[in-house]
Amino acid sequence: RQRPVIAIDGPAGAGKSTLAAHLARRFGFLNLETGAMYRALALKAIDNDYDFDEEAPLMDLAAHTRITLEPQLEGNRVLLDGRDVSRRIRETDVTNAASKVSVHPQLRAWMVHQQRLLGQAGGVVMEGRDIGTAVFPDAEVKIFLDAAPEVRGNRRYRQAAPTSNSAEPTDSQNGRQSPDPVTAEQQRVNEEAVLRELKDRDYRDRNRAESPLRPATDAVILDSTSMTLAEVLQQAEEIVRTHL
Ligand code: C5P
Repeated sequence: RQRPVIAIDGPAGAGKSTLAAHLARRFGFLNLETGAMYRALALKAIDNDYDFDEEAPLMDLAAHTRITLEPQLEGNRVLLDGRDVSRRIRETDVTNAASKVSVHPQLRAWMVHQQRLLGQAGGVVMEGRDIGTAVFPDAEVKIFLDAAPEVRGNRRYRQAAPTSNSAEPTDSQNGRQSPDPVTAEQQRVNEEAVLRELKDRDYRDRNRAESPLRPATDAVILDSTSMTLAEVLQQAEEIVRTHL
């Protein structure tokens, strides 16, 4: 290939997307979120009532599916058979379905094939779970971004919270946003649910037979548990510079 590949892997909520978008901007690369491809196929499986545990029908579905990633400044615009599903695929049902369909070996092989084609010219920051181990084992730069589960769960929760609040109806009397109706107890329950789902996804990702989530032997491990975002971005930039 003509240009390098930067591989970013790690568990859910570690901050991979933010890091990938930042590095892509910084070094003038395209940013490709491979998780969005698993999510898009999972959405199609949901919409057509497929069983997430049955690989053969899912493979058939994949063969008739066109998933397009359009790199943007922040993340990817995702098209499923030409339809923009960028927002829909971030919802909880799709998140959990993606984690389930992604255990199937043949389906992973199909995804890996597409992802290699997308990155074949290089000049990409590719983000996922198996980029450094399976998709581009020869990537010039490999970063494994990790963080303690509680920290990842908490970041995820706070990320999701403003979206659900902004979806609240506005008060038509005064045109102002209604106050946040979430009580402290509800908040604790919601946060626990997010953490539990995140741990379930991690467990499936780390324990599947085919290309389980783990750092490549030559990956640089960046543990962001007690780092600020600025520190993560700065350290990652240094890692990229020393490897390119
Ligand atoms: O990264 P994201 O959370 O969008 O990924 C959704 C799901 O897709 C993950 O939970 C994981 O199970 C799966 N995935 C994967 N391999 C990748 C990217 C994502 O198995 N390279």
